Amino acid sequence: MTKSRIAVIGAGLMGHGIAQVFALAGNDVTIYDPVMAALDTVKARISANLQDLGDDPSAVERVQPCHNLADAVAEADYVVEAVSEDLLLKQKLFAEIERNVRSATILASNTSVIPITKIMRGLQDRSRALGTHWWNPPFLVPLVEVIGTEWTSPQAIERTIALHRDAGKMPVHVKKDVPGFVGNRLQHALWREAIALVEHGICDAETVDTVIKASFGRRLAVLGPLENADLVGTDLTLAIHQTVLPAIESRPGPSPYLEKLVADGRLGFKSGEGFRMWSAEEQSALRSKVLQHLKKARAQE
Ligand SMILES: NC(=O)c1ccc[n+]([C@@H]2O[C@H](COP(=O)([O-])OP(=O)(O)OC[C@H]3O[C@@H](n4cnc5c(N)ncnc54)[C@H](O)[C@@H]3O)[C@@H](O)[C@H]2O)c1
Repeated sequence: MTKSRIAVIGAGLMGHGIAQVFALAGNDVTIYDPVMAALDTVKARISANLQDLGDDPSAVERVQPCHNLADAVAEADYVVEAVSEDLLLKQKLFAEIERNVRSATILASNTSVIPITKIMRGLQDRSRALGTHWWNPPFLVPLVEVIGTEWTSPQAIERTIALHRDAGKMPVHVKKDVPGFVGNRLQHALWREAIALVEHGICDAETVDTVIKASFGRRLAVLGPLENADLVGTDLTLAIHQTVLPAIESRPGPSPYLEKLVADGRLGFKSGEGFRMWSAEEQSALRSKVLQHLKKARAQE
């Protein structure tokens, strides 16, 4: 397994976790962020994560914070951007990155939803540009969606998939650059119906979550929907769809119920109330439950 020189741009929630994963796999990692509070704490945050997970603490020594972008990317084989979700910022950043990297360096964006085509269209060489969509926290959720545009070379996709596989991730190839890629399209199709059930008074928000967690949610980590369709039979799946699909939510925009929550300042954990009420204790209990669950899943892999 050859080691690579990785540059991570942005040392926030995702950037520090991505740097940690690549460093733990033995790669040398440079990381850049213009906000000193982010850059100066990045090694301490990675060290704390490594300790908490029982991973090799010396991995942090392979992470080098850089105070300017050009230094961070100059020697990199692979650059991944994890800055704020802002198209203009990302476009400007990649233009600057391209001026400072070697010709064979792969350029990746970790955007959540912005089409990679929009971010990369101004580059001189768009064949080496692609998307890599990680999930939070990067060191606990295995999937990375590798998204090619119409310009991305097959070699750039192959090298990126190999790099992530070697780092212990589970990369998948998304062949078309569509909004939401694959994971967020699936996730938000479910959320749309979840919100509609509450909006139409069919059940309350807690019931929606209980139904999912206590039924098909139990199976989802080991049985995907298409495996499930084959398991029960495509004929049964067709019969179910003939009855259910005309009845479920299909509006193309966000729910008015969701828009009203936001307009009323019911922003969820941020304001203490969203679909449900959340005390500070309930918020921290839920966060910790999710983290424990993800750690247990990683330990069982
Ligand atoms: N948070 C998630 O669950 C998640 C999951 C997948 C993808 N993403 C995507 O990853 C990206 C980063 O998200 P995050 O949650 O880590 O955000 P964050 O706010 O925690 O971190 C963003 C970092 O970018 C830095 N930054 C701003 N301008 C910069 C510049 N010019 N150069 C370098 N760094 C700069 C900020 O100082 C900050 O430290 C976004 O595009 C986001 O949509 C987030």
